[in-house]
Amino acid sequence: MKKSPFNVLFVGSELAPLAKAGGLGDVLGALPKGIAPHVNKTWVALPFYKSVTKNATSKIEHIANVQVRVNNKVERVSVWRTYIPNSKIPVLLFKNNNYLSRGTAYQGTAVTNPITKRPATAHTGQRLRFLFFSHAVYQFIKQEKLPVTTLHANDYHTAGLQYLLKQDSDLGHIKCLLTIHNMGVVGDTKIELLKLFNWNAKSISVSSELRRKKGIRMLRVAIDNANLINTVSPTYANEILSKEFGSGLENIIKARKKDLSGILNGIDMDKFNPLKDPHIKYKYSIASLNKKKKNKLFLQKKSGLSLNPNIPLFGLVHRLTSQKGLELIIELLPKLLALDAQFVFTGTGDPKYEKTFSDAAAIAPNKFFFHNKFDIPFSQQIYAGSDLFFMPSKYEPCGLSQIIAMRYGSVPIVRATGGLKDTIDDGKNGFLFSSYSASALQRTINRALRIYHNQPKQWEKIMRSGMSADFGWDSSVKKYISLYNKLS
Ligand code: GLC
Repeated sequence: MKKSPFNVLFVGSELAPLAKAGGLGDVLGALPKGIAPHVNKTWVALPFYKSVTKNATSKIEHIANVQVRVNNKVERVSVWRTYIPNSKIPVLLFKNNNYLSRGTAYQGTAVTNPITKRPATAHTGQRLRFLFFSHAVYQFIKQEKLPVTTLHANDYHTAGLQYLLKQDSDLGHIKCLLTIHNMGVVGDTKIELLKLFNWNAKSISVSSELRRKKGIRMLRVAIDNANLINTVSPTYANEILSKEFGSGLENIIKARKKDLSGILNGIDMDKFNPLKDPHIKYKYSIASLNKKKKNKLFLQKKSGLSLNPNIPLFGLVHRLTSQKGLELIIELLPKLLALDAQFVFTGTGDPKYEKTFSDAAAIAPNKFFFHNKFDIPFSQQIYAGSDLFFMPSKYEPCGLSQIIAMRYGSVPIVRATGGLKDTIDDGKNGFLFSSYSASALQRTINRALRIYHNQPKQWEKIMRSGMSADFGWDSSVKKYISLYNKLS
């Protein structure tokens, strides 16, 4: 592909491995690497969270200082530069202790409320953090005359930056692509917070529903200030036009239908490779599936389950939110625990799920293990050691876990929504069910287990089909480049 003359600035709230909470981090750690060879210049801007220093693999250098005004007080922001590991792509890091640099990405309580001068509440703190970040990046672009042609914004977090650029007569020419990774997170923000940053809330369109609550839905600001919009799978791009998935913004999205598309995420095929994965004990590939069994025994041992290579082992690696369809699994738990099967789950999130899974582990310690921690090595060991992988999501913009699971020969059981529908072919590389109900999930588990037990050849075929598929970034990168072209 010929190089396009674009200078692309990616902005977002996470970037793996420097700061990762979920799939958004994986995308921002990988997509710029795919884009870079095809464009003139690429940067990524990220808050300089605490975790960055620990996870960076190249030097972190101080490159500039900028100022942001909050509540009529000047806040100093130092700007630093490192590189995405194994690449030459600069990551611009914005450091400020009151707003950006304490705690983890979404830990709002690590932000100082400028009015009370005390830790903000979780919700307010997140809003303040990302508004502040938007202002800091804006000031940096302006002051350093960063020659951005294309802003690639992600989710609601950087809506502020999009808005500020469009308002600026010198920078309004910068074209903006907004990628929506999760329509369920809309970033409702109170007007009083916007006022702290001298925003004129009247000039921003506010839906009537929000006006009553005196707030602004920042994802709407992002949509309004984007030239083009995409979501992370074709099916989800369609779904967000409906009331069920549109989070109250479906009509706004519908009005922009001609600017909307869906591009499936890829995974880093090199990083997620059971033949090279440093976190798994026995490296394997499609040519050495017997070693996958060894990983299963290793996982059983580590999880305190009975050692048995033939018992079906179900894995789950998710943020524990209702989006992931955990209710369906919980409803089935008594039945699942009665099966001749094992379960190894990991994740953190909503305390109610954490408790339910911890309780299940206490009731059936030789069948069910729950690791209540964000632990990348253990997650990889689940992918490598499990036979089946649960992902019955209520909605799923793209989903990466089902793709990683396939790559590791763990067969996904997923609900036919969003990117799950676009990546899983029922009976070929996984199992699909449609209705959001425990009984539909149950039937699908039974169907999968029948093949697992009675048709081992067929089971292996399903595993192989997932393991040999190409889920790399190449074809999606081409689609993104064509969107950048469409913008110009
Ligand atoms: C969000 C979505 C997930 C998607 C990821 C990366 O985490 O929930 O479906 O894969 O973003 O785009």
